[in-house]
Amino acid sequence: MFYSEMNPKILVFVLVASLQICSIAALTDIDDFAALKALMDLWENTPPSWEGTDPCGDQWDGIKCINSRVNSIQLSSMGLKGQLSGYISDLQELQTIDLSYNKDLGGPLPTSIGSLKKLENLIMVGCGFFGPIPDSIGSLQQLVFLSLNSNKFSGQIPPSIGNLSQLFWLDLTDNKLEGPIPISTGTTPGLDMLIKTKHFHLGKNQLSGRIPPELFSSDMRLKHVLFDSNKLTGSIPSTLGLVQTLEVVRLDRNSLTGPVPSNLNKLTNVSDLFLSNNKLSGPLPNLTGMNILSYLDMSNNSFDASNFPPWISTLQSLTTLVMENTQLQGQIPTRFFSLPYLQTVDLSNNTLNGTLDIGTSYRDRLQLIDLRNNLIAEYSPIPGQKQVEVILVNNLVCKETGVSADYCTIPRPNSSNVSLPNNCEPIPCRSNQISSPKCKCAYPYTGLLVFIAPSFSVLDNKTNYILLVQQLMDSFSSKQLPVDSVSISNQRKDPFSYLELKLEVFPSNQDHFNRSVISQIAFVLSNANFNPTKPFGPYFFHGDSYQYFAGEATGSNNSLNTGIIIGAVAGGSALVLLLLLAGVYAYHQKKRAERATERNNPFAHWDSTKSSGAGVPQLKGARCFSFEELKKYTSNFSEANNIGSGGYGKVYRGILPSGELIAIKRAQQISLQGGLEFKTEIELLSRVHHKNLVSLLGFCFDQGEQMLIYEFVPNGSLWDSLSGTFVNHTDASA
Ligand SMILES: *[C@@H]1O[C@H](CO)[C@@H](O)[C@H](O)[C@H]1NC(C)=O
Ligand SMILES: *[C@@H]1O[C@H](CO)[C@@H](O)[C@H](O)[C@H]1NC(C)=O
Ligand SMILES: *[C@@H]1O[C@H](CO)[C@@H](O)[C@H](O)[C@H]1NC(C)=O
Ligand SMILES: *[C@@H]1O[C@H](CO)[C@@H](O)[C@H](O)[C@H]1NC(C)=O
Ligand SMILES: *[C@@H]1O[C@H](CO)[C@@H](O)[C@H](O)[C@H]1NC(C)=O
Ligand SMILES: *[C@@H]1O[C@H](CO)[C@@H](O)[C@H](O)[C@H]1NC(C)=O
Ligand SMILES: *[C@@H]1O[C@H](CO)[C@@H](O)[C@H](O)[C@H]1NC(C)=O
Ligand SMILES: *[C@@H]1O[C@H](CO)[C@@H](O)[C@H](O)[C@H]1NC(C)=O
Ligand SMILES: *[C@@H]1O[C@H](CO)[C@@H](O)[C@H](O)[C@H]1NC(C)=O
Ligand SMILES: *[C@@H]1O[C@H](CO)[C@@H](O)[C@H](O)[C@H]1NC(C)=O
Repeated sequence: MFYSEMNPKILVFVLVASLQICSIAALTDIDDFAALKALMDLWENTPPSWEGTDPCGDQWDGIKCINSRVNSIQLSSMGLKGQLSGYISDLQELQTIDLSYNKDLGGPLPTSIGSLKKLENLIMVGCGFFGPIPDSIGSLQQLVFLSLNSNKFSGQIPPSIGNLSQLFWLDLTDNKLEGPIPISTGTTPGLDMLIKTKHFHLGKNQLSGRIPPELFSSDMRLKHVLFDSNKLTGSIPSTLGLVQTLEVVRLDRNSLTGPVPSNLNKLTNVSDLFLSNNKLSGPLPNLTGMNILSYLDMSNNSFDASNFPPWISTLQSLTTLVMENTQLQGQIPTRFFSLPYLQTVDLSNNTLNGTLDIGTSYRDRLQLIDLRNNLIAEYSPIPGQKQVEVILVNNLVCKETGVSADYCTIPRPNSSNVSLPNNCEPIPCRSNQISSPKCKCAYPYTGLLVFIAPSFSVLDNKTNYILLVQQLMDSFSSKQLPVDSVSISNQRKDPFSYLELKLEVFPSNQDHFNRSVISQIAFVLSNANFNPTKPFGPYFFHGDSYQYFAGEATGSNNSLNTGIIIGAVAGGSALVLLLLLAGVYAYHQKKRAERATERNNPFAHWDSTKSSGAGVPQLKGARCFSFEELKKYTSNFSEANNIGSGGYGKVYRGILPSGELIAIKRAQQISLQGGLEFKTEIELLSRVHHKNLVSLLGFCFDQGEQMLIYEFVPNGSLWDSLSGTFVNHTDASA
């Protein structure tokens, strides 16, 4: 009955203590270890390698250290569950956090994150974080990458982000952010200050207000401005035309009004321009000079009615023209169709009229001309020419005669599921394994690769994907990752005009990946380490949680020990446990190749002090610690481990050799009790096992000190429990 009252950790501790085990200090800094333990306390599904007391020395999966300090945490696609502890801020040397693709990892982002002064990469893509992005984020002076996309963050974009002078990448896409895009005023920073930043990815939020003209200046180095799918109003500021480095501009799916500024054509490095689905008015912009513009979408706006503008036929790089519902009228000039890279033309829902003449000098690449809902009266395909798919449904030409022409029916949308050729015969695989492009059965790492602004529109051109696969392989092999091959499939355009495709990454050597490799592969994709060239452009990745770390039978090894321990506890078989722990201990001892030192017998020690003739206390699980031990566990009661103080004295944090975190309440000289009172209190406390109260692990009555040692509960009831006087604890009953 005594065992079953206690939590198994304490039980283990008590038994380990009774084996009189101590081990020698580990490689890992005590603060960092304590902080990792605090993180673990709020997480489920941490890697099985996360055990013992030495994350750096034992190479915990996903943890990298430099000089005994934790330098990076990368745990993508691990199926982590829970919340992020505010104690993460104790990892003061941290440079990289990547917790992407753990969809059950969420809660608020702790404010304390702002004290990670060395942080360079904060990447949490596709998790479940919600609530505001803390203003303290502006204190991360070294931050280069900030990717919080695809979470549920709400509230405003903190203006303090403008303080991040090193920021290269800002991705807040696909959250629930609202309010204005902040710009600096007086002493308040704003995004206009981010002159080194190349990426503003703010799409798919609920941002409102106008796009502030002050946001842009010729000092900026922005490549991607992605503000699509928000609630932005007002006109497009002409200052946008000053940012000559721009390559992709997406302002579509907002409520922008007014004319398009006439200097937009100064953006001669832009390849993708989306202004569609707004309420833009005035004349169509003249984009003469945008010589590498490939993809232009201006659909669904309220421009003045105009003839098909002649400048469009001068855009030599154009692959895709989408001007649905833009009040175009008159005839489409024949020379337009001979643009050399043209693939798709969508001019539906206009009042284009006359004869459709696509001429004879269009290229093979031209696949689709969609002119439905216009007034075109005549079209005669030239026999012998390569067939282009033309759609003239709901035009005069299809309303006349007994319509039977192909171009008068809406074609079935083609599935563009392109699979690249294998040079081998795919083989049948057992369940969940998949035959790789090299025809080996394995468990791939999978996810969705989403391109925000590809500069092509014909989705079934294999050449593009062969290039993509090659670039992916190059990225993985430049990081020496054991990737055998990658495959892509299921290409499709989603409702936001994003190109989605399914990615499968196959392991080499083994049929599955281990944790450290998965987090590195995911990092390549979450941190834009993989940087595809045109025609793909900006992207984000949504990794799936990887299930196959141990081959087919997942996690069976890990649950074994816990299972036996639970069984043993339930059966009350302390002997089995002792043997087991002795075994575990022996293993650890061997692994560290360090000798355990014998500890003084606490009870003998207690006797020898003979304080007030108190005698050995009636203990229920509490043990006696020597002063020397506690000194060691708290780095000599260092200030760094002082976690609170009050009238009675101070509270310190420490770590037992078993790895358990402890809190030590050390009485000041003036609040010392008599030996008998102290003994009575310990006896009482040691009987208390209440769920709202931290458990007493032991005490120290040595060298004139009185200390109580508790289980350390980060965030929990610790503060309440320890803030009273010693005797207050006894109010609670078991
Ligand atoms: C901006 O950074 C400075 C340090 O460079 C810091 O003192 C200040 O508090 C930061 N401001 C905000 C709003 O985060
Ligand atoms: C435009 O792109 C070219 C080629 O990538 C580059 O060399 C040039 O610096 C860019 N211009 C600006 C203003 O960024
Ligand atoms: C568009 O701009 C170009 C160069 O600035 C100019 O030559 C041309 O006449 C303009 N076209 C229209 C229709 O305004
Ligand atoms: C234009 O608006 C219609 C109706 O809202 C929508 O179905 C269509 O997809 C839009 N076109 C583009 C190119 O976004
Ligand atoms: C085509 O539309 C233009 C502009 O609305 C008009 O001036 C012209 O007469 C029309 N042509 C035909 C053949 O209907
Ligand atoms: C295009 O025209 C069709 C038929 O007139 C109409 O049903 C549809 O809503 C229109 N789409 C847009 C985007 O205006
Ligand atoms: C396929 O894509 C490549 C590279 O973008 C291009 O050179 C080729 O012309 C395209 N082929 C077709 C048929 O569109
Ligand atoms: C759809 O598929 C057919 C047959 O494969 C092909 O001839 C046609 O060009 C395709 N259309 C488009 C728009 O890709
Ligand atoms: C696309 O092709 C892949 C492999 O060729 C296949 O597994 C998948 O089911 C296909 N998807 C669709 C939507 O047809
Ligand atoms: C994971 O796999 C990589 C490559 O196969 C290997 O180098 C590494 O040692 C493995 N890590 C663990 C913890 O097994």
